Amino acid sequence: MRKKIVAGNWKMNGNVSFLENILQEISSTSKSLENDKEVYIFPPAHLLLAAKTFKNRMKIGAQNGYFADKGAFTGEISMLQYKDLGCDAVLIGHSERRAIFKEDKALLKNKVDAALSHGLKVFFCCGEQLEDRESGQQESIVLQQLQAGIFHLSADDIKNIVIAYEPVWAIGTGKTASKEDAQEMHAAIRKAISEKYDAETAQSVTILYGGSCNAQNAQQLFAQPDIDGGLIGGAALVAEDFKKIIAAI
Ligand code: PGA
Repeated sequence: MRKKIVAGNWKMNGNVSFLENILQEISSTSKSLENDKEVYIFPPAHLLLAAKTFKNRMKIGAQNGYFADKGAFTGEISMLQYKDLGCDAVLIGHSERRAIFKEDKALLKNKVDAALSHGLKVFFCCGEQLEDRESGQQESIVLQQLQAGIFHLSADDIKNIVIAYEPVWAIGTGKTASKEDAQEMHAAIRKAISEKYDAETAQSVTILYGGSCNAQNAQQLFAQPDIDGGLIGGAALVAEDFKKIIAAI
């Protein structure tokens, strides 16, 4: 059966003492989970080495990575280098990377391929803009993103993908998708995987919800049959809140 996952995306927040304090606080909650449940932390790159100290209690990942292994790419860090550092996973296709850093679908696909080739688990983010939802286009937009980013993979490789559905209008806004709307999208994503691959593969892929998921709404979201946990931004920076969200899976 697929894993249930709570992942914290810290974005460009935190320093070494913040990391040590918060990971110390959440590690007992994280360690007490059953084997089919996992906690991932995606701190900014400069904290990954410090985060490694906690690797026996949670998994760690990078928020971004470049597809070439090495070379003249000033400011970039490769998937190979993140693997060498001890990372378990990488986030690819977050809406902030797509919108602010203009990452297009060809680049994202290259990143997915590079990450998988080096044994990193890929957390592939997808999600519609508000106007897409208002015009009823949300499903086709999300499925196009999956088509462009991950549906070229083999059935074996797709098992190393975690999909994070994050409606752009819900990220950092305090507006969460209702549990019904989120479940509907997650079921549509699973159906698309089943059609592209097969039912067993679809059942094995973890699909997370992200977008203003917090200690109050996590439980009802995670109780939906196709919501296998969450990718958490703001609430992952507050130990008490993040602990409650972990407990909700
Ligand atoms: P949020 O961010 O929980 O602060 O809305 C989620 C994300 O961007 O992954």
